Amino acid sequence: MRLKDKVAIVTGGARGLGRAYCEALAKEGAAVVAADLRDCAETVAAVKAAGGKAIAAELDVANAESCAAVVAKAVQAFGTVDILINNAARYGDLKGGKFDQIPEADWDSTMAVNVKGIWNCCKAAVPEMKKRGQGSIVNISSLAAVFGLPFALHYTTSKGAVIGLTRGLARELGRDWIRVNAIAPSAVLTEGTTEFMGDKLERAKQVIASGQTLQRNLETGDLVGTVIWLASEESRFVTGQTIMVDGGTVYL
Ligand SMILES: NC(=O)c1ccc[n+]([C@@H]2O[C@H](COP(=O)([O-])OP(=O)(O)OC[C@H]3O[C@@H](n4cnc5c(N)ncnc54)[C@H](O)[C@@H]3O)[C@@H](O)[C@H]2O)c1
Repeated sequence: MRLKDKVAIVTGGARGLGRAYCEALAKEGAAVVAADLRDCAETVAAVKAAGGKAIAAELDVANAESCAAVVAKAVQAFGTVDILINNAARYGDLKGGKFDQIPEADWDSTMAVNVKGIWNCCKAAVPEMKKRGQGSIVNISSLAAVFGLPFALHYTTSKGAVIGLTRGLARELGRDWIRVNAIAPSAVLTEGTTEFMGDKLERAKQVIASGQTLQRNLETGDLVGTVIWLASEESRFVTGQTIMVDGGTVYL
């Protein structure tokens, strides 16, 4: 087990990729806090059914007090926070459109959740990591940012900001032995992607797969290995990086 005795918070842990990260982290021995606006009961039940440790927490990453409360809950339940997976985002519920037709409220809330939400969670969790002189933060960016996905400029821009945040914060926290990395996946067929793509889903799947070096669509299970590796000691000298998990769509 690569994460025995570690404590991990996964934001957006109620469904989709966040849920898969919770299950995978627990399988490697971590005690997991699944935190989301949505109810995480199913995630917790799945982790426990597989013999792992997990609790659910209500979280709105856009609200700094809510983030602090989740960290406090993690410390109360499991003693500390070693790993933070910043996965929550406005994604599935976003509507695409031309850049000048995106409602201003959607632009602002996408930045508040996808960018400020990560800042809020880091501000809450880093003091716990500093106490132990170690920690691993994994931020979920997207191929959308690196490729330059059009017609969803709020989403694309927010995921680009995640890469900048990752780099700047990694330099700031290196002296505390806290590592900060990002992963940038291509499209995975989660509920979020089904909602995001709507009736363009089948066409988008074909276009995405045909643009990859490895020509099939990404599956949830393809991502968890990179997240576990970044969370674990195996990547102990890796920080500030964005790892593309996109079947070789772009090469950094
Ligand atoms: N699925 C993909 O193809 C894909 C590709 C690249 C990147 N990503 C990123 O991966 C992550 C997960 O994707 P997914 O497909 O599982 O998305 P999803 O929409 O299914 O899940 C996102 C989760 O975040 C939660 N959430 C939203 N706003 C929140 C808030 N303010 N506070 C707390 N929780 C909140 C939602 O309730 C939901 O459970 C997102 O960051 C997404 O941008 C997804």
